[in-house]
Amino acid sequence: MMDVLEAIRNRRSTRDFAAEVPSRQAIEALICLATEAPSAANRQFWSFCVVSDQALLDRISQAAKTYMTRFRPVDLPENLYEKLADPAFHIFYHAPVLILISAKKNAPWKAEDCALAAQNLMLGAVASNFGTCWIGLCQPFLDTPEGRALIGISDDETPIAPIAMGRPASQSDYVVRKQPQIRWIT
Ligand SMILES: Cc1cc2nc3c(=O)[nH]c(=O)nc-3n(C[C@H](O)[C@H](O)[C@H](O)COP(=O)(O)O)c2cc1C
Repeated sequence: MMDVLEAIRNRRSTRDFAAEVPSRQAIEALICLATEAPSAANRQFWSFCVVSDQALLDRISQAAKTYMTRFRPVDLPENLYEKLADPAFHIFYHAPVLILISAKKNAPWKAEDCALAAQNLMLGAVASNFGTCWIGLCQPFLDTPEGRALIGISDDETPIAPIAMGRPASQSDYVVRKQPQIRWIT
């Protein structure tokens, strides 16, 4: 069994997936790990939606790209907007599965809770030889009435962490980290 330090060091975002669809059991196991994350006041205001319908993922990819390039809802480097405008770019990198973690709309610290659940899920995936990539680029679209309707996100929920997952088809490059800025107050 891989230890947590190894999982942290080995986790890299996967952007090249094999077609194999992970089993329901494997996905459920990762979601169980996600729910072991801490949450504010232990309220666990998160919910999970698993999409493996490829036609639907293609549709969301297309619609999210159109939404992002038309409305530019977030400040991104120009090269990312160019990528989003490229017809060949698939926002989920053709991953066989998308796991969307959503939160109760009015939950305090909902982003923190869901991000912690997502990190547990991504580290658990490493230990089971799965790859993941957080797809923030689809989140603004999923939060529109059209996006919500496509996967049935209820009115009292906010989509927070869309995680593409599957077996990696190749090894991801290491992305160099900056030196952490640390202020020691003693
Ligand atoms: C909130 C968030 C949103 C992200 N959105 C995307 C995305 O839309 N597409 C993508 O390819 N990677 C996305 N990533 C992955 C980052 O690009 C990646 O974590 C970073 O480059 C470091 O690389 P590593 O995960 O391989 O260590 C996102 C990561 C986070 C935390």
